[in-house]
Amino acid sequence: MPRLPVPPFVLGFILDVSPGTTKGFDPTGTGQPTLFVLRLWNEVFVFRNICPHTGAQLNLKRDVFLSPTGDSLMCYRHGALFDFSGTATAGPCVGRSLEKVPFHITDTGYIVVDSFV
Ligand code: FES
Repeated sequence: MPRLPVPPFVLGFILDVSPGTTKGFDPTGTGQPTLFVLRLWNEVFVFRNICPHTGAQLNLKRDVFLSPTGDSLMCYRHGALFDFSGTATAGPCVGRSLEKVPFHITDTGYIVVDSFV
């Protein structure tokens, strides 16, 4: 598993993530989106891109972490669905959760990862 930089570090710019979408970020510089941001209309979340089912990355297409209906996060490996808090609600890992990453957004719009739990 690639090691993430030591927090705090700037992950990206919030205006690069449109409301109602997700976007992968590659803070390790490996070419893989090890973290992703979910931006709702009034909330933002950062998750590690690790499915609790097998440990694989959730997405198969760049920046696509939402289900086709857009009302859940989805792992495209075996179809697990997650609510926006990151808890699996359907599929092979029901009740398990994505790992949330603590962060804050600066006044100038940078997403800063604060720590890992
Ligand atoms: S790896 Fe995510 S549902 Fe199987």
